[in-house]
Amino acid sequence: MIKKLLATKSIDDLICLSEDKSHSLKKVLGPLDLALLGVGGTIGAGIFVLTGQAAAQYAGPGIALSFILSAVGCAFAGLCYAEFSSMIPVSGSAYTYAYATLGEIFAWIIGWDLVLEYLFGASTVAVGWSGYVVSCLRDIGIKVPPAICNAPGTSFVDVPGQGWVSLTKEAAAALAAKGIDPAPLHHACGMINLPAMLAIVAITALLVIGIKESARFNNAIVAIKVSVVLLFIGFGAYYVKAANWTPFIPGNTGEFGMFGWSGILRGAGVIFFAYIGFDAVSTLAQESKNPQRDMPIGILSSLAVCTVLYIAVALVLTGIVKYTFLNVPDPMAVGVDAAGQGLYWLRPFIKLGAVAGLSSVMLVLLMGQPRVFFSMANDGLLPQVFRRVHPRFHTPHVTTVLTGSVAALLAGFLPINILGEMVSIGTLLAFLIVCAGVWVLRRTQPERARPFATPWVPFVPLMGILISLAQMVSLPWQTWLRLVVWMAIGLIIYFSYGIRKSARRCAPPAGRAQK
Ligand code: ALA
Repeated sequence: MIKKLLATKSIDDLICLSEDKSHSLKKVLGPLDLALLGVGGTIGAGIFVLTGQAAAQYAGPGIALSFILSAVGCAFAGLCYAEFSSMIPVSGSAYTYAYATLGEIFAWIIGWDLVLEYLFGASTVAVGWSGYVVSCLRDIGIKVPPAICNAPGTSFVDVPGQGWVSLTKEAAAALAAKGIDPAPLHHACGMINLPAMLAIVAITALLVIGIKESARFNNAIVAIKVSVVLLFIGFGAYYVKAANWTPFIPGNTGEFGMFGWSGILRGAGVIFFAYIGFDAVSTLAQESKNPQRDMPIGILSSLAVCTVLYIAVALVLTGIVKYTFLNVPDPMAVGVDAAGQGLYWLRPFIKLGAVAGLSSVMLVLLMGQPRVFFSMANDGLLPQVFRRVHPRFHTPHVTTVLTGSVAALLAGFLPINILGEMVSIGTLLAFLIVCAGVWVLRRTQPERARPFATPWVPFVPLMGILISLAQMVSLPWQTWLRLVVWMAIGLIIYFSYGIRKSARRCAPPAGRAQK
């Protein structure tokens, strides 16, 4: 039993299983497509929303240092992803790498864990997307009733002159401070987040139609959102006041994580979310024309581009507006307002950039998940129907529709905080296992050709492991508890299905030739 749980699969077997012609994906992606998909999957809610909140609550202008710190951790993991994805160009990403190095049970655990990153991640971003779209519609005079754009359990009050306000404790306190009693006002409750669900349905349809079509859509969207970010950096830089950066690292309040160096650490943990997505490039290895060369380019260049843009945005944002004003859902818009009339024209573009940005993040995450399921089915750990490829579009349509349906339901009925908490811990666990895997494989198969080799092994994987672990430890215990429950559900499925069905050889399983 233990032998079975820890059995690894040879890299040749993994590659051979993925090359079955009757279930093959289209190899159409070049290095630029991959890099743009990495950027598309990364720049989103993190930079458009969390930067301001983390600066206001934990790090002040030092949030730029938090971005550097978090990028260093991601770079260690990114190098390890680059090595694996060029060596094992199979679409399962961390799941496949764990199968090759740590054994079947670890592979299952990480495959199940990736659902948190990709599927839950897409739902989280869809909820953020819905918030931005509703706000854009409000700007042009269209009011969407809160009942159809919020999950159950959220309540709202219609404040004269402000519109619908979410009735959180902070909002109630703010209203009380203005002398407004919400009791006699019109109240409403969230029932379903329809815009979030519709966004996921539309993107799922695009993903079924084709990988090339999806990549083209992503390229257009990335052009829009990167232009908006560059406009913000370029024009915002003229309005930076050095006084807003002083002190650059506000003094610690006496509590760990509240400003000072510990605040920069906590800020790094929070804005880690902004970097999630660049690793999704590794799920596209089977659709890459030349994965040995292009996977490392796609992964590392997208991480580098996002890091530079994030640091610049953080510096400009905290330079044009005092960080204490940034605890809002739209900090970049607040920054533009603070700069004065000269930058007002940029406001609608910022909203457009955020809506575009979040759309491509959803696209890339919803692209990654089915490919992980597809690889798990290729190895027999999931039912064979999951490895069906559409005869005309050559996309894994069954897993794409399944992923889209579950993600739409989660986005429609769960609030963003419960979803978001799970995404970071799931991604960090994947980073940790990939780094450990690179180190293990260097010891077990040192002679194997590595088209891209991570430098300084074991320093780089070890640092990747330690930094991921440190960020996981800093997350609240409730998040850990949810992770444990999620893993327990996964293990029940594995012991009642996967363990009996996993095909360990590269031989066509029964019913494979169905097409
Ligand atoms: N990195 C992605 C975002 O910030 C998940 O939205």
